Amino acid sequence: MRQIRPILTLLGLLAIVAAWGSAPFGMAEEPSKSKGTLEKVFPNSNKCKRCHERAFEEWETSPLSRSIHSPAFRASLDEYLAFSSGKDKALCFRCHAPHVSEFLDQAPMFVAQVQSGDPAIDGVGCIQCHLIKQVDRSSHPPVPKYELGKTLYGPYKDFVQNLAHQSMELELFRKSDLCMNCHQSVPASANLGKTNELLGSWESSQAVKSGKECQTCHMPEQVGESANGENKRKVANHSFPGRIGKLRQEAAKLAIETSIKGDQTTVIVSVQSLVPHNLPTTHPAWAKVMLEVAVKGKNLKTVYSGQRVYGRVFADAKGQKTVFDFKATKVLEDTVLKPDETRTETFAFPTPKDTRSFDVEAALSYAPVTGSPEFLQRIEAESSKGGQDPAFQPIPIAKQTVNVPLK
Ligand code: HEC
Ligand code: HEC
Ligand code: HEC
Ligand code: HEC
Ligand code: HEC
Repeated sequence: MRQIRPILTLLGLLAIVAAWGSAPFGMAEEPSKSKGTLEKVFPNSNKCKRCHERAFEEWETSPLSRSIHSPAFRASLDEYLAFSSGKDKALCFRCHAPHVSEFLDQAPMFVAQVQSGDPAIDGVGCIQCHLIKQVDRSSHPPVPKYELGKTLYGPYKDFVQNLAHQSMELELFRKSDLCMNCHQSVPASANLGKTNELLGSWESSQAVKSGKECQTCHMPEQVGESANGENKRKVANHSFPGRIGKLRQEAAKLAIETSIKGDQTTVIVSVQSLVPHNLPTTHPAWAKVMLEVAVKGKNLKTVYSGQRVYGRVFADAKGQKTVFDFKATKVLEDTVLKPDETRTETFAFPTPKDTRSFDVEAALSYAPVTGSPEFLQRIEAESSKGGQDPAFQPIPIAKQTVNVPLK
């Protein structure tokens, strides 16, 4: 272990005095007996910012920092509360603001924070992950086991001491188990078993066989400061690339084959998923990936278009289709791209006329939110951007165009 650096010591003292009062995490001595207040036990992420600026700034750009903020979340939480008549108000927060499990009596406050549209509490903030000591994967969805106190768990064995918190190395932080906690499955209103698994047969993917964990791709290793002013070392990117970020370019490959037989043309598009788990992951239940094919003939006019959708279609207890997994009792259709799968899709159309060549364009994207008109209006009304809310925008994943000459 390296020695405490004088500057950090001073910073640390300042931080403690300024931010947390004399006892950093409130109830440091006897966590189990006298639990402190919510803000003391789970301090806000900006309390960590003063020493962990890089991690904070990355996290701030990530979807995790907005896990209880989106209009779509707000609208679907309301839908859930109405559906469940207020039973188990904490359900959605178990993953979206997991510290609720230590303060179940305060679940109504969590709900009120979300409904305010501008929550002051964190959802999945720094400490919501770094106080997790263990994950119990035998229950579905798995539950994080918090160890409340001033010891923060992380990946380093050779950590530098600081005065704000104690540190402890936990293997868990380099393992997928930590993420499975919230990413493996979601509660549906019936036990959907395997059809409710978000990641699919991830355990037998190429990535797992070659020793990769979720962190390998979603918290890529980089060199930087673990804490302000510390020597540069290996750190993990906290912007959690997924739908946002460069990782998307590694999601899928498209290939197009065309065969012309007189006035009939057939296009075969192969969609190769490079993702070691299901694509898309089907929570929220409206999450879908779309393949769109367009054929452009004379003057680039579209003469044919076709579409395929990858996702799951759920039905509720009355047999009606639903975009809410908490209402789902059955899966009617499952077209998600399985880990590392290549799917081939065939499109047939009349060969374009009066042109020397035509273009075939194939595009893969995440589809915008779907649901009843009331639900969509609700999201629009909840959003400061109205109909321009990101939930209504497709997110492009991959694109391929070929030009096909005609004799
Ligand atoms: C306490 C629950 C929880 C844990 C633990 C957790 N996540 Fe998440 N994660 C979430 C939630 C909730 C969201 C969705 C945030 C939003 O968009 O509202 C999310 C979003 C993400 C996204 C963005 C997905 C997208 O669509 O772009 C990635 C990537 C991600 N998590 C990776 C990880 C990795 C890697 C780990 C493990 C190191 C992890 N998560 C651990 C709850 C969790
Ligand atoms: C077992 C953990 C878990 C539970 C419980 C859970 N979610 Fe999620 N939720 C996630 C994760 C993980 C993501 C990110 C998924 C992704 O991007 O692929 C997410 C994403 C979402 C999103 C899309 C991102 C956003 O913020 O707009 C919505 C909406 C959402 N959840 C609503 C809910 C609602 C409503 C409930 C309660 C009925 C709920 N969730 C319960 C884990 C959970
Ligand atoms: C979704 C869970 C999650 C959240 C949220 C999260 N971390 Fe981490 N953090 C991890 C994991 C996992 C690692 C180890 C990754 C690895 O080494 O592969 C880590 C590593 C670290 C480290 C060691 C140095 C480094 O950067 O790798 C520090 C310091 C740290 N986190 C601080 C923070 C701070 C500060 C925040 C909030 C701004 C935060 N973390 C939010 C999961 C999380
Ligand atoms: C007074 C400054 C200071 C504050 C405030 C602070 N930390 Fe740290 N933290 C450090 C230093 C210094 C290290 C050691 C970094 C190293 O070893 O490279 C560290 C290490 C860590 C580690 C790595 C532990 C390990 O063994 O892997 C995590 C995780 C972490 N901090 C999370 C947090 C979180 C979460 C908060 C906010 C609740 C926080 N820190 C607040 C200074 C601080
Ligand atoms: C080999 C790299 C790799 C590994 C390992 C990996 N992923 Fe992914 N993941 C991807 C790629 C690529 C995407 C697609 C990026 C995109 O287009 O959004 C993705 C997308 C996601 C998304 C957003 C997808 C959606 O449909 O909303 C989540 C959430 C996610 N991964 C979670 C995880 C979790 C949890 C683990 C560990 C169990 C994991 N990933 C392991 C590469 C990986």
